[in-house]
Amino acid sequence: MKRIWMRVRPALLAIVIVLAVAACDNNGDDGRLGADADGSAGASNSVVSPSPVSPGGEAGGSSGTAVEQPIKIGFSMDTLLEERWLKDRDLFRESVEALGVEVEISASNGDDALQIVQAETMISHGIDLLVIVPHNAEATAAIVKKAHSSGVKVIAYDRLVKNAEIDLYVSFDNELVGELQANSITKLVPKGKYVYIGGAETDNNAHLFKEGVFNVLQPFIDSGDITVVYDQWTKDWTPANAKANMEEALKANNNQIDAVIAANDATAGGVIAALEAQGLAGKIPVAGQDADLAAAQRIVTGTQEMTVYKPIHALTLKAAELAVMMAKGETPHADRKVNNGKIEVPSVLLSPIAVDRLNLDATIIADGFHAKEDVYRFAQPE
Ligand code: BGC
Repeated sequence: MKRIWMRVRPALLAIVIVLAVAACDNNGDDGRLGADADGSAGASNSVVSPSPVSPGGEAGGSSGTAVEQPIKIGFSMDTLLEERWLKDRDLFRESVEALGVEVEISASNGDDALQIVQAETMISHGIDLLVIVPHNAEATAAIVKKAHSSGVKVIAYDRLVKNAEIDLYVSFDNELVGELQANSITKLVPKGKYVYIGGAETDNNAHLFKEGVFNVLQPFIDSGDITVVYDQWTKDWTPANAKANMEEALKANNNQIDAVIAANDATAGGVIAALEAQGLAGKIPVAGQDADLAAAQRIVTGTQEMTVYKPIHALTLKAAELAVMMAKGETPHADRKVNNGKIEVPSVLLSPIAVDRLNLDATIIADGFHAKEDVYRFAQPE
């Protein structure tokens, strides 16, 4: 309420002054500055009173006179250097704008200091709510503090902000992502030497994915059926770093590896490039995540076993709906709580879906996530 009043006040003052001057011109005979019949000061009868800001930013009441600004949401992203985040950006913009709300978007491509500056800039532009995809789960706590000190609430999108009083977390069930990966691969390879190529250690999701994988692997490890011979984070999630890790794993084990779980499709791509160089691509099952087009194509050609599909459109629709509610001062219902080291964050977690050769068509293609001709572009004729 306070924020809306702060935004409406300057416009209201301007109207009062304009009307007062006009009144002065018209009523020059009695010389009173827009005085009412009862003698009270001001021009209260003539002023269009501010009505609540609608999602479309249009004021109710008399048309044309009110000058309220529309609600605006800031979307501070980590990177746009990966396929999925371009979808997130475009679909989030679309979902927010469909609700009649403006959105300002920035991306810092892995630069923590830049992400903080960009978020501060959006706050100074008067955003009503900030949605953030943190590059660094810890460093972005500073943004949450800044936003709160300006009365702006913050939603963590896809990735959690740690040790901060974040207002809401909207994501997928990320532990389940890892469980789906490990379930698929252990079905194929219930015994043997496993490599785990993790995500970026600075991303809380990377920890959740890994937890999920090891929830499933642990009984196999305990029984001695599975040995994890290599387990490493991938700095900044880059395919090049994942490739270097996989090369190291192959070398240290004389190429005697039976299965690889990679934290996402970008890292799976790096892993498969390393396997290709050793003539092993397609011979060792590899799991990834994100249902990137390149991964779907690798599933068709047989160099990647599975991926995990996270319907990004559903995530953007949910995040946009909740962001707009909160920007309007409402408290949305969140059925889960996730501890971020400081508080139990109200959370909304959507479900990921395991995808392999058998259900590609029924999932990502049926959903329009990728076009069938693109997914099957490199398929060998049967
Ligand atoms: C996301 C993944 C993505 C990875 C790298 C994670 O936080 O959940 O979908 O592949 O970041 O950008």
